[in-house]
Amino acid sequence: MHAKLLDTLRSATNQVSLHEIGRRLGASPDTVLSTIAQLSEKGYRFQETKDTIRLIDSPDIPFPWEFSSRESRIHYYKEIDSTMTEARKLASAGAPDFTVVIAETQGKGRGRLERKWVSSTGGLYFTIVLRPDIDPEQSFLINFLSSLVLSQVLSTLFHVDARVKWPNDILIHEKKVSGMISEMVLTGNRIDYVNLGIGVNVNNSPEEAFPHASSLKTFLGKPVSRVRLLGDFLDAFEARLKKGLVGREIISEWKKNTITLGRQVSVATTQELFVGTAVDVDDQGALLLKIFDGETKRIIYGDCFLNDRADDGLSA
Ligand code: BTN
Repeated sequence: MHAKLLDTLRSATNQVSLHEIGRRLGASPDTVLSTIAQLSEKGYRFQETKDTIRLIDSPDIPFPWEFSSRESRIHYYKEIDSTMTEARKLASAGAPDFTVVIAETQGKGRGRLERKWVSSTGGLYFTIVLRPDIDPEQSFLINFLSSLVLSQVLSTLFHVDARVKWPNDILIHEKKVSGMISEMVLTGNRIDYVNLGIGVNVNNSPEEAFPHASSLKTFLGKPVSRVRLLGDFLDAFEARLKKGLVGREIISEWKKNTITLGRQVSVATTQELFVGTAVDVDDQGALLLKIFDGETKRIIYGDCFLNDRADDGLSA
């Protein structure tokens, strides 16, 4: 009812009569009024006369009804430990493909390599439950595709130069605005689910605590719509996934949009730290790093820090 009512009011240029809304929604004027009262409590603002209504303003909150075609698969929380934990519970209880868990803030947000992901208000924190029909060895492509698609959506929506950094970060002017992690559960040698967790610095200000991170709000000088960003990303990512995951195509497109190649980097794996030049990313998503004795290391999992940053030369 929330989604239908909002759609009706958003497509109207003027006041709409309660009677007309009720007719379009197949609901009584009383039901329409009580839905409006519920939405007002959530921060939506309406202009009402005796028997007409107009939507004046919507809060930028990713409530499930803001994504009408996927409403039943969206789980929204004001606060949660980690969307990864909740997504795992939902996935193991049988949640369908493309179930999305969103939180305004996370008490125990998880980053890569056992790091914490600080999740302050204004950012976008979500995990998508995916049930792809692919070999487990191909699952790395999901992360490459999602960072590629998210960087494209950011560039298109906000006219910023969003680039990918190996393996799956997104940077704008060398500052991190998004990171992702994933976890895969197999049944035998088939994928049961892959949960993809994405954090985006949208209207938060991470700069003070993390000098090599920034947000869209900082770059653009004004807050931007998280609802629009999430909706556009989910639509674009789902459409690309439906086309199938072709490794060579995804990696070649990803490479055209990366800032990693040719750069002096440090790469931390769970055990070691390598320093060298990032020379290539192969079709399995591994980073080829030419270390200083001339040897080329092939690194499958790790985190990459730019050592030749344009701004201050510190790693990040
Ligand atoms: C990284 O760059 O280290 C990855 C960060 C991933 C953070 C996201 S926020 C939503 C989801 N829930 C989590 O606990 N982590 C991921």
